[in-house]
Amino acid sequence: MKESPAKRAAALRKQLEHHEYQYYVLDAPEITDAEYDALMRELKALEDAHPELRTPDSPTQRVGGQPRDGFVKVAHSSPMLSLDNALNEQELREFDTRVQALLKGEPYEYVAELKLDGLSMAAQYEDGQLNQALTRGDGRIGEEVTGNARTIRSLPLRVRDKTFSKKFEVRGEVVMQRSSFDRLNEKQEKEGLKRFANPRNAAAGALRALDPGVTAARRLDYFAYFLLQNGKPMLASHWDSLEQLVAAGFKVNRHRRKCKDLDELLAFIRETESKRDALPYETDGVVAKIDSIPQQERLGWTAKAPRWAIAFKYPARQASTVLENIEVQVGRTGALTPVAHLKPVTVGGVTVSRATLHNEDEIARLGVEIGDTVLVERSGDVIPKIVRVVEQGQHRRPYQIPKHCPICHGHIVREEGEAASRCVNSSCPARLRETLLHFSARGVMDIDGLGDALVDQLLARGFVHSVADLYKLTVPQLLELERMGEKSATKIVKNIEKSRLQPLPRVLNGLGIPFVGERTAQLLAGHFGDLDHIANASLETLQEVDEVGPKVAESIAQFFGEKRNRELVENLRKAGLQFTGEKQPKKKSGPLAGLIFVITGTLPTLKREEAKARIEESGGKVVGSVSSKTSYLLAGEDAGSKLDKARELNVPVLDEPGLFAILDSRSTT
Ligand code: IVH
Repeated sequence: MKESPAKRAAALRKQLEHHEYQYYVLDAPEITDAEYDALMRELKALEDAHPELRTPDSPTQRVGGQPRDGFVKVAHSSPMLSLDNALNEQELREFDTRVQALLKGEPYEYVAELKLDGLSMAAQYEDGQLNQALTRGDGRIGEEVTGNARTIRSLPLRVRDKTFSKKFEVRGEVVMQRSSFDRLNEKQEKEGLKRFANPRNAAAGALRALDPGVTAARRLDYFAYFLLQNGKPMLASHWDSLEQLVAAGFKVNRHRRKCKDLDELLAFIRETESKRDALPYETDGVVAKIDSIPQQERLGWTAKAPRWAIAFKYPARQASTVLENIEVQVGRTGALTPVAHLKPVTVGGVTVSRATLHNEDEIARLGVEIGDTVLVERSGDVIPKIVRVVEQGQHRRPYQIPKHCPICHGHIVREEGEAASRCVNSSCPARLRETLLHFSARGVMDIDGLGDALVDQLLARGFVHSVADLYKLTVPQLLELERMGEKSATKIVKNIEKSRLQPLPRVLNGLGIPFVGERTAQLLAGHFGDLDHIANASLETLQEVDEVGPKVAESIAQFFGEKRNRELVENLRKAGLQFTGEKQPKKKSGPLAGLIFVITGTLPTLKREEAKARIEESGGKVVGSVSSKTSYLLAGEDAGSKLDKARELNVPVLDEPGLFAILDSRSTT
């Protein structure tokens, strides 16, 4: 029997409320925007057909989610409402027809902008200076995040144009660029933390972090799109406002256009959609606004959205298909990446048959098993990913990371606190291949011509068993390989020769030590000045280096502790690589410069990560274990063995107020 409209409306409300809570309050959506929109549309249609069912607390009557506790709540100068959506050309035409009718045939123009996939934020300026920043909150009352907003580089702290009005407000979108997002997730993974589902959630988390240090580290971006005064547009044309914002020093998205009719608007939509993948940030459509503010006023607002603007959503780049199998790939550091093998499916014009699953936690988070039907999404030019399970397969079977490496049959282990399982055999051919490619890459040892194809041949012929063997290759040897002429062989040998001159940080990076990339290699080389000193350093000494914590130190010590790696080092020495470099004098500044902290237990207000950020921001260093070199132990509730050790070694112990006191006293002196 069909559900009654009243029952269906109640069920929809309940679902929407749940998903709004997940999305707005917890930043942990369980469904896609498209699915959410579909539920909302169904409820709206139902309420339109049966107005008696419309309750004042229905999600259709409300603008957004509840602000989260923990922030000061401030009323907006005028509501920050949202936009109605058009999901296809037909719906956009209908919108345009409505506008025409309401403006009674008067000519009008659109301003088309990208719909940036982030979260909106209002910034108040007084006397040319950023005074207050508010998140959208529930649309009427926002959360005050001024301290965090100040860390956004693209948001001017002071406007450039001195003639600018005394008091004004800017509204725009906070986004996280894909590169920052990828870096953040890499870091999360390294630290054994959960990956963020998408840049928007990561941006929301960063903007609402309790500590501005955390926001700063996540590098948010801000695009302005409204210029207001007393809650109303300051100028008579929206286009002019954007230009004025640019002049005042705001970042305004450059993909914008004045369109004199629907056809021009559609052309803009088509053009931007084709550029979508190449942009460094995520966009999910185009926002079209009537340019003239007097016309906007005539068109007015509904309870939820303006009648003078619409959001055209690009078609979803998602599709469902069957997960046929999962296989692992072995990376340079031995880390295993599970790769989903999919029944080929077209997603936004591209055939997809593989998707990344990142690691075991991700598989668990998704609850996915082989045989399930899954939703696949393409975003940007990155590897497609699985969003969720659509339907469990009848004969589904759980996937388990193999106990032995599929390439070398070596042991697979997963260290505590690490997201990845690894093949521990450092001479695993899969690892060696990736290591050789990494070693010769641009920015590392820069060996031109040593790419995939050549490395595969060198391995197949048994010409190299470690990166050191590259330095023994001869022209006659290379000539034995397929498609190799005298000229290229000579060139490659020359390029290998030349790489002997690469400086120490490059050599160190080239070794492929887990967690030691370009930056850490530079810091290590600068601190020790000599590869042998690094190889022989204790865990504690290693942690004296900036940005080197217990995990990285452990990884370095483990690497040089292995016999075959010691041999590798000797062979590279014989090959004449650069083992010494310039020591960099420490130039850390800030009130805590030179101080080494250890954090233990639960602090009353700061999370551990936040305390760490505070200390590092002020030039201090946070390491994992207490030693005689530790300046302070920052201890919270339930501090255990570290506290005992600190007492034993006479290391001063601080509580959280104590840390604040040091920060205060030192920053004023
Ligand atoms: S105009 C009442 N312009 O999309 C006007 N919004 O669904 C509302 N958004 O809450 C905002 N890019 O977070 C506008 N160029 C743009 C936008 C944009 C992204 C977001 C914004 C807003 C939501 C509306």
